[in-house]
Amino acid sequence: MNQPPRKKPEELRSHRWYGVKDMRSFGHRSRTAQMGFHRSDYAGKPVIAIINTWSDINPCHTHFKQRVEEVKRGIWQAGGFPVEMPAISLSEPFQKPTTMLYRNLLAMECEELLRSYPADGCVLMGGCDKTTPALVMGAISMDLPAIFLPAGPMLRGDYKGQFLGSGSDTWKYWAELRAGNIDEQDWQEVENGIARSPGHCMTMGTASTMTSATEVLGLTLPGAASIPAPDSRHAQMATLTGKRIVDMVWEDLKPSDILTPASFDNAVTAVLGLGGSTNAIVHLIAMARRAGIALDIHRFDALARKTPVLANLRPSGKYLMEDFFYAGGLRAFLGQLGDLLDLSQRTCNGQTLGEGIANAKVYNDDVIRPRTNPLVANSGLAVLTGNLAPGGAIIKPAAMEPRLRKHRGPAVVFKDYNEMAARIDDPALAVTKDSVIVLQSAGPQGAPGMPEWGQLPIPQKLLKQGVRDMVRVSDARMSGTSYGACVLHVTPESHVGGPLALVREGDLIELDVDARSINLLVAGDELARRKAAWREPAPKFTRGYGLLYLKHIQQADTGCDFDFLETGKSSVAAGGEPEIH
Ligand code: FES
Repeated sequence: MNQPPRKKPEELRSHRWYGVKDMRSFGHRSRTAQMGFHRSDYAGKPVIAIINTWSDINPCHTHFKQRVEEVKRGIWQAGGFPVEMPAISLSEPFQKPTTMLYRNLLAMECEELLRSYPADGCVLMGGCDKTTPALVMGAISMDLPAIFLPAGPMLRGDYKGQFLGSGSDTWKYWAELRAGNIDEQDWQEVENGIARSPGHCMTMGTASTMTSATEVLGLTLPGAASIPAPDSRHAQMATLTGKRIVDMVWEDLKPSDILTPASFDNAVTAVLGLGGSTNAIVHLIAMARRAGIALDIHRFDALARKTPVLANLRPSGKYLMEDFFYAGGLRAFLGQLGDLLDLSQRTCNGQTLGEGIANAKVYNDDVIRPRTNPLVANSGLAVLTGNLAPGGAIIKPAAMEPRLRKHRGPAVVFKDYNEMAARIDDPALAVTKDSVIVLQSAGPQGAPGMPEWGQLPIPQKLLKQGVRDMVRVSDARMSGTSYGACVLHVTPESHVGGPLALVREGDLIELDVDARSINLLVAGDELARRKAAWREPAPKFTRGYGLLYLKHIQQADTGCDFDFLETGKSSVAAGGEPEIH
């Protein structure tokens, strides 16, 4: 096989910092010596930035303190010079109102760390929900050689001899507690057993969806996304990742050499076949647009129509990521998708996607189903349009009660999250199982940050009657671990005057999943009157990052990136802006 051409040491970007003979490079070298490194440790070697999103407040990344040492080991072994650079950790369980408010901030931080320091290439360490798209977006824009190390899923949860799934079982047992079917003692046992190791959520939630998508895009080593975080094979993968990035620098293998429209189609197809999180839609669109690739939401619907759900994973199915790994993991799963993928796409190890999954085997065909026995034949995800969502909305038919696929009911409207929280369990609330619950002001501008509020709660009085699913509509996102007949990402959002803002109590709303439609059954002239009377709400921020966010955030159908970030390359290596000396 032909070896790719290799850079010379003086062609490294870091040469400007370390290799030239001037006073500033003296400063760089003397300060590197201050940290205990001799010239022979770094001279003429690729400097590898390790962007590490470890934090004391991110439980999904607790093992990154150890893993980063294993990444460094690989970089040293391959003849590189590792430099760890901590970046903001977006901790899904703790950050309010939502980590999504800060996804673009981490993307900017990643890009600017790479730009301003002597990085020749980078290892991106993330996994907790937004950290993956954020790091990848920043790395795409900078376009230096980049490889992603996924945090890996945590072990299965455990409660009274049953497995628990992140998120999914929280919603489930919370509903049982509110319905009076379990008591406080049971609830505390769920609390103690649901997250019992390092690693990200182990359902097919947003974290597993995005790390898997990133592997399919070719930005991780084959098999990296499925390994449970505490498994020794995860540590081995960290070292291999560190080794590989050094060669990627010498080969000058950058995201722009790997990412294509076909690789994004592959990622979308894999997400659909995994029954992955709806959040992948905004993230993949944003990532693609960073790469100059025009991915839009309707592509998701087109690919969904021909993609079966083959991964029997919660929340759509039965098993958890640990089971998925033992069943063969993502490589075996991709082998089942076979001809639905373009296997000729290049990946970061220099091989094609097809070469990376060659010989992968399925060891449990109930976890990774064959094409002849899918969990869902097709359309695990659907894109809806109609007068309630002219820019589109989405729903996950695989995770809802089938009786609600075609439904018409009167709206019960909450103007914001606080009003919903205050009134939803009011016994006097005029709601039945046929009502359509509507939440406004939960979108990118309105909430702000488009939080995962979209799995609107079922009113307690209906829970007690045994109701477990209803049609719910909002401009919010939904946790990838959630389920239900939830119409999400309604675009344009209510805060900017989208039709969702015009819905009134009792209006009829019609959902038809098969027709891919969501409509407000109110006459056009009445809607025009309401629109004329609508006033834009006051902005939620008047200073700081929040103000920057409000001025530049875009709507869900284009990925919620900042307008000034989504196109254009930032590094001279990618033909973009000149380096600043
Ligand atoms: Fe980190 Fe779910 S809380 S991935």
